[in-house]
Amino acid sequence: MTSAIRDRLTIGELAARSGIAHSALRYYEELGLIHSERTAGGRRHYARQTLRRLAFIKAAQTVGLSLDEAREAMADLPAERSPTLAEWKPVATSWQQRIDEQIADLQRLRDHLTGCVGCGCLSLGRCALYNPKDIQGAEGPGARKLLPKLDR
Ligand code: FES
Repeated sequence: MTSAIRDRLTIGELAARSGIAHSALRYYEELGLIHSERTAGGRRHYARQTLRRLAFIKAAQTVGLSLDEAREAMADLPAERSPTLAEWKPVATSWQQRIDEQIADLQRLRDHLTGCVGCGCLSLGRCALYNPKDIQGAEGPGARKLLPKLDR
């Protein structure tokens, strides 16, 4: 094995080190979140730095970011080294704001949950569990979930 290859991880090694399934790693690669190089035999090899990107993706998902949002956030960070404090601060600040919003949403939901105790109606019109903040109503009138393709 050459030194160039030893600096790289196979997909199995990356999966073992990150705790992320092979299929998810291939999916992340399809989405452009991570990158590999192919050997002459077509096997994927990943730079060790990929572990840092995967840690970032896991952290972003913990905060509630989608994979698209994680990719956008990573675009603002260096790919081949750890971010500096100045580079990391805007990302961390935006994540703090998002967590604060999630906490506020959950507190609102908790406060409106009293009517659901012992109810079970899951009414579109009045249930804070089924339709928090009347999201369905904001999308327009009618059966929004039942007829999404006829609405065009
Ligand atoms: S279950 Fe009836 S209002 Fe939520």
